[in-house]
Amino acid sequence: MIDLRSDTITQPTPEMLDAMQAARLGDDSRDGDPTVGELEALAAKRTGKDAAIFVPSGTMGNLVAMMAHTGRGGELLLEEGSHILKSEMGAVAQVAGLFHRTIRGESGAMDVGTLAETISAQMKPNKLATALIEMETTHNGAGGTVLPLDHMAKVHALGRQHGIPVHTDGARLFNAAVALGVPAERIARHTDSITFCVSKGLSAPIGSLLCGPKEFITRARGFRRMLGGNLRQAGMLAAAGIVALDSMVERLADDHATAKQLADGLHRIAPALVDPESITTNIVRVDTTVSGWPAETWATALQSRDVRVSPGGPMQLRFVTHRHISTADVETALQAFRELWSEVPGPAAARAG
Ligand SMILES: Cc1ncc(COP(=O)(O)O)c(C=O)c1O
Repeated sequence: MIDLRSDTITQPTPEMLDAMQAARLGDDSRDGDPTVGELEALAAKRTGKDAAIFVPSGTMGNLVAMMAHTGRGGELLLEEGSHILKSEMGAVAQVAGLFHRTIRGESGAMDVGTLAETISAQMKPNKLATALIEMETTHNGAGGTVLPLDHMAKVHALGRQHGIPVHTDGARLFNAAVALGVPAERIARHTDSITFCVSKGLSAPIGSLLCGPKEFITRARGFRRMLGGNLRQAGMLAAAGIVALDSMVERLADDHATAKQLADGLHRIAPALVDPESITTNIVRVDTTVSGWPAETWATALQSRDVRVSPGGPMQLRFVTHRHISTADVETALQAFRELWSEVPGPAAARAG
């Protein structure tokens, strides 16, 4: 099976498994776990922040960040297709107690003019105060797009101007860094706090890091505990995270290359499927309209040929490349797509449907 559903399916490397077995352990929620401490220090260093906290998931990292930055009842401004809104179960409202207002975006980047107009530095009789601004890079919903650094700088400057903190969901921060050809710190300097996951393309089995100012991370520790995210001998997981940061970052370029190879191949089958120029990291979003088949039909047909992909919308397929996808796997997946292409009804059927 060639599994292109997500980079979250990556298995730990043999080096990670060795490190997990050899890790020095402690009770992380009592006196601290030395290996977790090591990973947190490394994460802070890589992002240029004062401190970091290890959390079980990216979702919890974002939630703890929202809670630690704000009191309840303020407004969160974020791009309309943000993962926080689309896939984190409304925690922004249900748990963090924030109201959200979306800002129109282009390739995952909020329109800065609209953002500036929407910010409300103080609560007014008819307007909530903006409590937090959020960005996402790489932007999952927009197809793994990378926010330009000057865009991030403008958003951060707006936040500073109004005294509003800025959080960035950098679940795939290192994909963004590799695509931009800069250290992660260059991205993270344009945000007050940032989450990243070691459990995605970096191949560690579990875990994310939330990085930011010292006092913010101290507050985050309290909220992590409140949410049941305190772990005990978590050094077993952190050990894999250290290997991920030390040895798995540069190879993300291979995943970006296979994503490009896939997009090029699909574009050759039908140009309307995908614009290869838009692919900069490891996510390929394919518009199936031209084929006449909805994404679900494609996913089922591809699965019968041992290729797994996720529908990203009614007429959108989402392919994600990762460590277990070789260039030969991409060719096999493309061959399966090509063979199925001879069966598709074409765009007229899609219009009629
Ligand atoms: C952009 C983004 N943020 C946050 C998350 C959540 O991470 P987790 O699945 O570890 O909760 C994901 C997961 O895919 C993501 O793509």
